[in-house]
Amino acid sequence: MSEINKNLHQERKSYDQSTLRIHMVDNDPIKQFDQWYCEAESFGDFEANAMVISTVSMDGRPSSRVVLLKEYSNEGLIFFSNYDSRKGREIAANNAVSVLFFYEQMQRQIRIDGRVEKISEKASEDYFKTRPIESQYGAMVSQQSHPLASKDELEKEFQSILNSNKKPQRPKHWGGYILKPSYFEFWQGRPNRLHDRIYYSFEKKSWNKGILSP
Ligand SMILES: Cc1cc2nc3c(=O)[nH]c(=O)nc-3n(C[C@H](O)[C@H](O)[C@H](O)COP(=O)(O)O)c2cc1C
Repeated sequence: MSEINKNLHQERKSYDQSTLRIHMVDNDPIKQFDQWYCEAESFGDFEANAMVISTVSMDGRPSSRVVLLKEYSNEGLIFFSNYDSRKGREIAANNAVSVLFFYEQMQRQIRIDGRVEKISEKASEDYFKTRPIESQYGAMVSQQSHPLASKDELEKEFQSILNSNKKPQRPKHWGGYILKPSYFEFWQGRPNRLHDRIYYSFEKKSWNKGILSP
């Protein structure tokens, strides 16, 4: 077996696209998020709504994966998943999560921490119906995160439910979560690793903001 030993020490990029100073940001972090999100959306051909969400298991082990942000407002950020998946089980035990958006092309990162709750059954139902019918069937046949005996078997099950013309039904274990933020951080890459970092934390019923050392 060949040995792999790769050195990435020379992989260096200078960040100099824009700046983020405290006088430039909104007092309301969700408005600031909205501004950066809209800029990312119009910047280019990437999924601006893809976010890494980290959860922590009962025995304190963190895990991360990408999910898609589907709605945001002053109330929080909404995404959809399988409540029986690994993330779903971890959230049920500990609803503190951390979310990360990495906008590489813009040399930006947004971090959001908070707690998640399930959204109402009706809101999950309403969104489920807007999904392409194939995705609805997909959610019906997938026991997300559970070991699978055979991928071919799953594909067969999917084809047979698709061919049956049976009306898709949202599984009870599939639905939305809302992340209620208590912390935001906006990071803009700067030359010489002297990056701009602005944080907001929710204390005593209001948002306080400040600057962090890079
Ligand atoms: C671009 C992208 C978008 C994804 N969107 C979702 C999503 O919205 N909901 C979801 O449950 N999984 C989504 N996934 C799959 C998850 O990353 C993950 O594989 C899955 O949710 C199982 O994670 P878990 O075993 O930690 O629960 C997405 C993956 C990628 C790469």
